[in-house]
Amino acid sequence: MQQQHDQGGAVFRMDGRTIFFGAFIVFSSIIFVVVALPYLSFQPKQSADARPLNALETKGRQLYAANGCNYCHTQYLRPQDWTGVSSFRTVGRIAQAGDYYYQQNPMLGSERTGPDLSQEGGAHTDEWNMAHFYNPRYTSPKSIMPQFSFYFTQNSAGGIEPTEDVQALIAYVQSLGGQAGYERAQRQRALKEKLLTERAKGNEAIIQEWFPSTWRTVRNPMEATQRSLYHGKQIFTTNCVGCHGLLGNGKGPAAYFINNPAPRNLTDAAQQLYFSDGEVYDAILFGVDGTAMPAFGDLLTVNDIWDLTNFVRTIPNGGLQREELDASMMISPPDIKPIEVTPIVIPQAPGNVPVVETTPEGGLGQTGGAGAGNATPAVGPTRLPTSAPVAKPTAGAGAGAKTTPSAAPGGQGLIPGGPQTTPQPSPSVTTGVP
Ligand code: HEC
Ligand code: HEC
Repeated sequence: MQQQHDQGGAVFRMDGRTIFFGAFIVFSSIIFVVVALPYLSFQPKQSADARPLNALETKGRQLYAANGCNYCHTQYLRPQDWTGVSSFRTVGRIAQAGDYYYQQNPMLGSERTGPDLSQEGGAHTDEWNMAHFYNPRYTSPKSIMPQFSFYFTQNSAGGIEPTEDVQALIAYVQSLGGQAGYERAQRQRALKEKLLTERAKGNEAIIQEWFPSTWRTVRNPMEATQRSLYHGKQIFTTNCVGCHGLLGNGKGPAAYFINNPAPRNLTDAAQQLYFSDGEVYDAILFGVDGTAMPAFGDLLTVNDIWDLTNFVRTIPNGGLQREELDASMMISPPDIKPIEVTPIVIPQAPGNVPVVETTPEGGLGQTGGAGAGNATPAVGPTRLPTSAPVAKPTAGAGAGAKTTPSAAPGGQGLIPGGPQTTPQPSPSVTTGVP
C-alpha cells in the first residue's frame, strides 16, 4: 500500500472530504433526475378543459388556499377513484396534466376528508353553495366541514348577507372542472332561469320536462311495510330536514339562502302528487337541475331511495310528527298503473313443454342489492303479452323487495340506479357560454 502511494496518482481515502463530496454527487444527481429533469422536459400542453380564472375566481382560489380547503379536498381523480369517477353529483373525469396548465401551484390536496372537487363546477347551484358555506350542516346534516359564516355580514334589516369573499369562493368552486365545469355551472343558472320564468307564467307542468318520461307511470316497487316507512323516515331526518324542514314544509334553515326556487313543501299533497313515485325516485337519485335539490345517488342505495319515497308519501298526513307509521297514511298518485311482473321463460330441454313462470319472489332482477351499483334493471329474456298475470305490485319486505318489476309500456328497466347508468336526459338549454 505505502509503495503505491509513493508512485504518485490519485488516491481516494474514505476521509471526511471524500464522504462529503461523494454524498453530494449522489444526492444532486438524484435531485437532477427526479426533480430538475422532469421540470425541464415535462411541459404538457393545455387540455381541452383548461381555462384561465377570472379575477373573482382567482380571489376565491386564494381564499381556498388561505382556509386550508385543500387539507380536506383533492382536485384530481385517478382511474381507481371509483367513488369519484362514478359520481351522481357531477361527472367523473380523470385528471390530465394539461388541466393544470394555467395554475402555478395546483391545489391537488393530499387527503379526502371531503369529496374530490376537481369537477365541482355545476355540481350544485350557487344557492346551494351559499347555504353550504354559511353552515355545511344546513345542506348536509352529517358534514364535518367547518362553517364559513364569518364571511357573511348582517345588513341593516338584520338579514344575513354574503360578502364578496363568499361570492369569490362560490365563483371558484363553480369554476372547478375547467371549461366543462364552468359550462355546467352556467347550465344550472340557465335551467334555473327557465324554471322560474315558466313558473311565473303559471306553467307548473314545466317541471315534468326535468324527468325522463318513462318515470311518469312508475310506482314504487318497495312494499310500504313498517320497516320501509321507519327506515325512510330515518333517512329523511338525517338528510333532508336542513332544506325541507323538520315538518317537511320546505322551511328548513337552508331555505334562508335557497328560496328561488325554495325547497318543495312536502306536506302539500297536491304538490307531491304532481310527481309519480318514479319521478320522486329520480329527483332524489340525480337531484333536480337548476334547483338546489341535490343528487343523493352517491349516499343512498336503491332500496334506501324507495323506502324514502314510501315515507315521503306519508308526510302530508303527519308522517314526520307521528310516532306510529303505517301504509294507510300514504297518499298515492292517481295516474299510476300497477306494475307488471316480468315473466321469465325457463330455458327448456329440447322437446319439453316450455315452462313459463312469473317471478314474484326474485328471479332475474334482484333489487335487493347492497349498493346502488348492484341494481340490475329487471328485464326478463322474454316478455309475455299483457295477458300475463299481473302480480301484486309488492312482494318481500325486510331485506328488500324481491319483486321483479318491469316498467310500464315504455319497456325500460325500472331501476336505473347504478353508477354505470347513463345520466338522465335533462332538459336542454343553450347557456350562451362563450
Ligand atoms: C375539515 C375538512 C374540510 C374543510 C377544511 C373543508 N371542507 Fe369542504 N367538505 C368537507 C366534507 C366532509 C364535505 C362533505 C359533506 C358536505 O357536503 O358538507 C365537504 C363538502 C364540500 C363541498 C360540496 C361537495 C359536494 O358537491 O357535495 C364543497 C363545494 C366544499 N366542501 C368546499 C370547500 C371549501 C371551498 C373549503 C374551504 C373554504 C372547504 N370545503 C373546507 C370537509 C371539509
Ligand atoms: C339543499 C337543499 C335540499 C335538500 C338537502 C333536499 N332537498 Fe329536496 N328539494 C329542494 C329544492 C330546492 C326543491 C325544489 C325543486 C323545485 O322547485 O321543483 C326540492 C324538491 C324535492 C322534491 C320534489 C321534486 C321537485 O322537482 O320539486 C322531492 C320529492 C324532494 N325534494 C325530496 C327530498 C328528499 C327525500 C331529500 C333528502 C334525501 C331532499 N329532498 C333533500 C332542496 C333540497
